[in-house]
Amino acid sequence: MMKVRMKVNGNWVEAETWPDRILVDFIREELGLTGTKKGCEEGECGACTILMNGKAVASCLIPVLKAEGAEILTVEGLGGKDRLHPLQQAFMEEGAVQCGYCTPGMLLSAKALLDGNPEPTVEEVKEAISGNLCRCTGYTKIMRAIQAASEKMREERG
Ligand code: FES
Ligand code: FES
Repeated sequence: MMKVRMKVNGNWVEAETWPDRILVDFIREELGLTGTKKGCEEGECGACTILMNGKAVASCLIPVLKAEGAEILTVEGLGGKDRLHPLQQAFMEEGAVQCGYCTPGMLLSAKALLDGNPEPTVEEVKEAISGNLCRCTGYTKIMRAIQAASEKMREERG
């Protein structure tokens, strides 16, 4: 066992883990943040997407040691029931959530996009979520939600 330390959703956390632990398991099991989902565990489905130092990454491909000292954002840090992020609000309003399994990863890929590009084109949205698979929605509603959130966030910024 060894100790790792990282900043998760704004708070420094330190936990005991195994050196060969994969980040998604560390987040879900040691930290108890089960909003991050596990699907393929091969970097193909995007269910495990989180932000690491502001970049959307597949946490099923990252050894926990690589995240030592990193800044991590999971869906729990994006917003909550009483304080939804504009992306979460838009996903609800546009009907972009069905089974919800892809949603945490989609939201974080979308956040990474909008953080760097507040006014993305349809093509740019498509590209940003191209690593996130959704079996339910057919993507149209998800893309509409991301664009609606980007408009709202621009309005709020004035
Ligand atoms: S579980 Fe990580 S990409 Fe599928
Ligand atoms: S809402 Fe079910 S996989 Fe996307």
